[in-house]
Amino acid sequence: MCGIIGYTGSINAKKILLDGLSSLEYRGYDSAGVCFFNNKNNIEVIKSVGKVDNLKKLVEKNNSYTTCGMGHTRWATHGNVTNENAHPHSCSYVNIIHNGIIENYLSLIEEYNIKERKSDTDTEVAAIVLNKFYEETNHDPLISISKLMNTIKGTYAICIMFSDRPNEIFAIRKLNPLVATTTNIGSIIASDLTGIIPYSKNYILPPENSIVKLTPYDIRAYEYITLERMELQILQLNWSVDSAMKNGYPHYMLKEINEQPQALTNTIIPYIKNNIPDFSDIGIDDECLKSIDNIQIIACGTARHAGLVACSVFTPILKIPVNTFVASEYRYTEPYITEHTLVIPVSQSGETIDTLASLTLAKNLGAKILSIVNVKSSTIARSSDYCIYTNAGPEIAVASTKAYTVQIAALYLLLSKIAYLKNKMSLEELKDFINTLNAMPEVIKETISNDSVIKEVAKFLKFKNDCFYIGRLQDYISSLEGALKLKEISYIHTDAYAAGELKHGTIALITHDMPVIAIDTNENISSKLLSNVEEVKAREATIILIINENFKYKKDIAKHIIPIKNVDYRFAVFPVSVVTQLIAYYTSTERGLDVDKPRNLAKSVTVE
Ligand code: F6R
Repeated sequence: MCGIIGYTGSINAKKILLDGLSSLEYRGYDSAGVCFFNNKNNIEVIKSVGKVDNLKKLVEKNNSYTTCGMGHTRWATHGNVTNENAHPHSCSYVNIIHNGIIENYLSLIEEYNIKERKSDTDTEVAAIVLNKFYEETNHDPLISISKLMNTIKGTYAICIMFSDRPNEIFAIRKLNPLVATTTNIGSIIASDLTGIIPYSKNYILPPENSIVKLTPYDIRAYEYITLERMELQILQLNWSVDSAMKNGYPHYMLKEINEQPQALTNTIIPYIKNNIPDFSDIGIDDECLKSIDNIQIIACGTARHAGLVACSVFTPILKIPVNTFVASEYRYTEPYITEHTLVIPVSQSGETIDTLASLTLAKNLGAKILSIVNVKSSTIARSSDYCIYTNAGPEIAVASTKAYTVQIAALYLLLSKIAYLKNKMSLEELKDFINTLNAMPEVIKETISNDSVIKEVAKFLKFKNDCFYIGRLQDYISSLEGALKLKEISYIHTDAYAAGELKHGTIALITHDMPVIAIDTNENISSKLLSNVEEVKAREATIILIINENFKYKKDIAKHIIPIKNVDYRFAVFPVSVVTQLIAYYTSTERGLDVDKPRNLAKSVTVE
C-alpha cells in the first residue's frame, strides 16, 4: 500500500515522478505529493488530495525545474485523507515519504517530547525524530538514519531527502518493498517494478538491513550498524514495458481478463516435463513431496479463494488434511505443524503482510514453505524454501483476475503431482488431469468472446443495491469470488451463500428486488442447485443462471442464462471465473466507476 518513487539524475524529474506515480497509483490513491530540489537547491513540496491527476494539475502550474525529487501516492492508515496528511512530510532538514506503519509513533511523541505536528500521521513523527538525530550528529545522514532504524518499530519503506544534500536520496526498508536502478539518465527508486520498467531491465532490491544512497551516478548500500559498504546484486526483469501498459484496452482489468489464456500457458508450461508436473527446477524433490501428510494454504482475498478451490478438489483425492486459512487469522493461531507439513502461501504481489507473517510463523514451527507467487523476487518468494512463480506478468488493476486463475492452475499442478507420488492418482489419471488443464486457455478464450449476455446482465445489475451469488461445493467458492469481484468494483452489496444454507436464514432477504446469480457446473448436484433456484424464484428473486451448456433446465428458470463450456466440474472454475469477472467489470463500467482503482482499496496490502 502506498506508492513510492524517487529520481536523481540529469533530466526533468517532474515527468519521471508523475509518470511513476501514475503507474504506482494502484497501490493507493487517496492523496499524492512530491517534493524536489529546485534550481536554487531549495526544497519545494506540492501535495493534493485525490488521485494523481489532481497533483499533476498543480505540478504543471509550478515553474521550477528539477532533476531530483521524490513522490508518493497514499493509502491512508494514520490520519484522514487531507492535504496535511499527504506525503511528503517535512521537518526542518528532513523530507520523508513512507509506505508502512511506524507502530511506536505514540511512544516516540512522548519520548522525544514532540509538541507540534502539522499532520496526524506516524510518518511525520519519524521525520521529526530523524531531524533531531540529523542535527545532533552534525548533519551526518548515515549515522542519523542508522539511529532512526534503531528507534522506529513497525514495517516500512522510506525515502528521505535532506534539504542540505541536493541530488541525494536515501532509502531504508523493513518488510515493505523497494526496488531501484541506475541508468544513463540517473538513479530511480520505486515501490515496485512498474515504476522502473520504462527505464531499465536491471534492478536491485535494497537489502532490509541497509541504508541505500542514490546519486545521479550510482546506488550504494551501507550496512545500517557498521555503515560498511554492502554488495548489491543486480537482477534482471523479464516483464516488458508493454505488459505494464493498457495496450488499447479501456481498463487494465479488461486487459488482464483477456490475458488469462496466455498467462495460464505461461504458468503451466515451465512446470511440465514428459506431460506431467515436474518441480525439480525449483529444487523440491519427489521424495519430499511424497512425505507430505498435511497441507496448509495461507492467503488473503482472491488468493484465498484459489486455495479453497484447490482444497475442494484435492481433499477427496489426497485423503490427507488440505486446508486453506485466512492469513490475517492464521498468524495469530497456534497451527499444528510437523516436519511433514507443507505450507503454501499464495500471493500475487508476494508482499501481503498477513500472508508473510503467517509464512514466518509456519517456518519457525518447522513447516516446509512452498509459495505460489506472481511477482519475482518479492518478499514472500524470497522468504520461502521453494517458490512456484505464476508468470502472469504484471497485474495492475486492483481487482485480481488473471492472478486468480493462474494461482488455481499452479495449485492444481502441485497437488496433482503430490497425489500421483502418493499413489492417489494413476499416471493415466494425472495425464488426463493435466491435459484438461492444458485445454483451459482455449476454453477461456471462447468464454471471453461470448460476452453479449454478460453485458445484458450488467445493464440489469447497474440499478441494483444488493445481489446474491449462490452455488454448491466448488460453485460456492466461485460464488465467493464472484461476489468479492462484484462488490469491490461496482459497490453493489453482494454476498455469496452455499445454496443449501439459504433456508437457514438468508432467504428472508429475498424479494422481487434481489438479483440472485446461481452457478451450476456439477452434474452430481445440479438438481439440488436448481431446486434452490426455484425456491428463491418462488419468492420473486430475479435469477441469473451460469450453467454448464449440457445441463437440463427449464427455459424460463432465469431472466438471463449464461451457458459455459461443458468441462469436468473440477475445471469449470476457469470459465466461471471469467464470467463473474466480466459481470463485475461491465457492471462497474455501466455505473461509470473507476474500475481499476475502486474506492478505499489498494493493490498490495502491506499493512496489517
Ligand atoms: C481482490 C483482490 C484481493 C487480493 C488480496 C491478496 O480482487 O485482489 O483480495 O487477492 O489482497 O493479494 P495478494 O495475492 O497480492 O497477496
